[in-house]
Amino acid sequence: MILTVEPLDTGLCGEITPPGDKSISHRVLIFATLAAGRSELSGVLESEDTLATLQACEQLGAIVARSCGRICIEGTGGELKQPSAGRLDLGNSGTAMRLLAGVLCGQDFDTILSGDESLNRRPMRRIVEPLRLMGADIEPTGQGTAPLTIRAGDGLQGIEYKSPVASAQIKSCVLLAGLYASGVTRVNEPRLSRDHTERLLPLFGVALPAPCSITGGSKLKAAVFNVPGDISSAAFPLAAAALMPGSDIMLRRVGLNPTRTGFLECLEEMGADLRVVNRSDQGAEPEGDIQLVFNGPLKGIDVPKTRVADMIDELPLLMALAATASGITRIRGAAELRVKESDRLAVMATGLQQLGVELKEYQDGIDITGGEISGGLVASAGDHRCAMSFAVLGLHASAEVQIEDAQFIATSYPEFCDDMNRLGAMMQAAESA
Ligand code: S3P
Repeated sequence: MILTVEPLDTGLCGEITPPGDKSISHRVLIFATLAAGRSELSGVLESEDTLATLQACEQLGAIVARSCGRICIEGTGGELKQPSAGRLDLGNSGTAMRLLAGVLCGQDFDTILSGDESLNRRPMRRIVEPLRLMGADIEPTGQGTAPLTIRAGDGLQGIEYKSPVASAQIKSCVLLAGLYASGVTRVNEPRLSRDHTERLLPLFGVALPAPCSITGGSKLKAAVFNVPGDISSAAFPLAAAALMPGSDIMLRRVGLNPTRTGFLECLEEMGADLRVVNRSDQGAEPEGDIQLVFNGPLKGIDVPKTRVADMIDELPLLMALAATASGITRIRGAAELRVKESDRLAVMATGLQQLGVELKEYQDGIDITGGEISGGLVASAGDHRCAMSFAVLGLHASAEVQIEDAQFIATSYPEFCDDMNRLGAMMQAAESA
């Protein structure tokens, strides 16, 4: 599918509620499946990634009822059943695969976890190593990728794991395996990655004895939770409004977990005028409304390395904004971008150059010199976030921008074009010829 974006000569205006947070949605679906009793979940993201998780949950024995935007899950009380044919297909979702691998290593049945072409290329040794240290019988392919073959083992032991990467997927995988291990399992990471697992487990009745640690044998209880909007999806309209003169938009109920807000800090440093109103810190996850009013052309910035983990999924979008900002924007310490749904540094660098942008790519980052954006056809390499980043940039281009493989946007934000068009954009997806 090709997405065509017309350049705009007006600002974006209006109000939207972005879709539910993807990371939180995966977790509450999995936790509700492990829990005893009936969980009531609202605001859950219903995109290809999270629907793959929901389907896996059903195959593992959860009883799911969906109506009017609510998902009720009758949990298994921890008694998971072996999926039919012994396999789960997790589509494009790295979070589903890595978190469920942790859970499934603790079961008394065998499972094979597989995904689409992109997911089956992503590195899995990063979870296989700690899981094996815990005693799990888990086998990736010779390249260290999925399909992952997990066999029922002789029980897991708790470990203290020092993760080489600040990754919430590794951390959550090990903590979930820790539910089935003897003793306490603890994860140390070089910097705090998104902490949704740690915030949400207590809601499902599991207290963490210390930060990033879990006691084996802890049982989950059903919970009621309303998932806030995804700041990683909200970032696209926010960036578009920061780019387009005359814009004034309001985004309702956006998740504001401090491990996720690095992009907002960058936007402000680039000169955007954004305000958080109606902030609520009551529940497990903070949230609020964000208003963004156009405040003049953006300035290039140096993104602090310490902020990279807090905005890892927004870096492709930041690269798109940098392409229009005055001066140079420098990003370093972001080598993880190379092992996301695509090699996001390479895909963004190639596409931006096709749109006339001057840049220099490094192994762990990029320098981008802002300037004029020409029109043209760019490849998203099947990566939802790269596709949406190019779409935002297309609003500011001198001619139409077309993005290939735009169907992958449904991975995280199926209503992206509708939401952007409601704010005044002109984007249209059509089957490729
Ligand atoms: C996620 C963690 C991040 C992020 C991904 C979602 C999660 O990945 O990029 O989109 O839900 O735990 P890493 O843990 O690999 O950094």
